[in-house]
Amino acid sequence: MDSIRIRGGVALQGNVRIQGSKNAALPILAATLLTGDSSLLKNCPRIADVYAMASLLKDLGCSVNWQGNGIEVDSSRVRREEMQSEAVKGMRSSLCLLGALLGRCSEVVMEYPGGCCIGARPIDLHLYALSRMGVEFLETDGKLHATADRLHGAEIVLPKPSVGATENVILAAVCAEGDTVLEGAAREPEIEALCDYLGACGAWIEGAGSGRIVIRGGRKLYGTEFSIPADRIVAGTYLLACMGTGGNIFLENASGSELEAVLQVAEQMGGHICSTNQGIYVQGPIRPKAVSHIETAPYPGFPTDLQSMALAVETVGEGETVIEETIFENRFRVVEELRQMGACIEQMDERSVLVKGVPSLTGTEVTAKELRGGAALVIAALMARGKTTVSGCSYIYRGYENICRDFRELGARIISV
Ligand code: EPZ
Repeated sequence: MDSIRIRGGVALQGNVRIQGSKNAALPILAATLLTGDSSLLKNCPRIADVYAMASLLKDLGCSVNWQGNGIEVDSSRVRREEMQSEAVKGMRSSLCLLGALLGRCSEVVMEYPGGCCIGARPIDLHLYALSRMGVEFLETDGKLHATADRLHGAEIVLPKPSVGATENVILAAVCAEGDTVLEGAAREPEIEALCDYLGACGAWIEGAGSGRIVIRGGRKLYGTEFSIPADRIVAGTYLLACMGTGGNIFLENASGSELEAVLQVAEQMGGHICSTNQGIYVQGPIRPKAVSHIETAPYPGFPTDLQSMALAVETVGEGETVIEETIFENRFRVVEELRQMGACIEQMDERSVLVKGVPSLTGTEVTAKELRGGAALVIAALMARGKTTVSGCSYIYRGYENICRDFRELGARIISV
């Protein structure tokens, strides 16, 4: 079942419940290692990246059990620090295990996490920040050896906001001796969720969500029960799908405050948005207006993870749109597939494309090459005339619990095959 078949041209209608956040769940799962206790994480998304993280935690000696849409992790018997390289290689989010394990053990050996198709994904900021806390690194035959005889607090300044490096500092700092002050921290809501979980476990952390975070180390941490917040990128995906197909949808338990930059773009496209405490009401335009310039930026800017979806929508926009990707160096791989559907997209340079809206796309066979580009192809197929088959959908299942079920609930003609 690695393909999705869609018959496009249907305006989306109805309610959909937004799954738990992938990018909040992963660092919080890593953080369960720090308690040496049992935690229950409710609303944890059942997606491939979470399953991979769960198997890494089991390799380290944790017991992991699913209970409905929650997952219980007991880290009281963590036994070894070398992680199964094939799992680590396949997934960048295991990088946040580095900080958690250093907080728990004095030595960690892991496969050097490689890049992926959206970019080189360097880890220099992680290594710089953790070395400020007394960690020593050695790379031999593709493995990263990290040792910390004495993990201590430090003053750290990140030259640019990195979500993963911010998470690794927080995970190591809660167990370090003394306080850590992190300037230039990433401000994503997933950082706040991680700090909310650690706070519930007994950690003292101030400034989460701002550029300056202070962590008091050395406090005893206990397991807790915690609800993973809704996935803002999944909510943004469905919101932008409605911009492309028209219609009226309700995104249950989505947070408008976490998507302000996206809501602004959606309104410029001609959508009408109403955020409430229960979720977001979305009315899409008959045909999206062309937003002259959409530029990705670190939170609270327009998220890079929704760039491909906005690009897909603007392929049928009323005019021309420049899309600029400032975070990753290779995040336009979906362009080729969209061209096969009739899109008119010109690569201006490696960081920007010019989209000239056409009246409609035409269904055909396309292939997902990565997670968010794959989701953008599903949106394009929902907008297109005729039938589309999207293959390579295992990429999409890394981050979307059941994209076919969700879009079917919104009236789309979509099945996985
Ligand atoms: C997280 O990746 C997310 N992944 C990404 O979501 C998201 O796109 C990204 O943050 C946004 O910044 C998870 O949370 C699991 P970064 P991360 O460190 O932490 C450069 C998805 O689709 N950089 O914030 O790896 C880096 O090259 C995924 O769900 C360094 O130069 O991203 C990039 O240009 C894709 N050196 C920028 O910083 C470093 O040591 C932001 O990267 C680390 C990063």
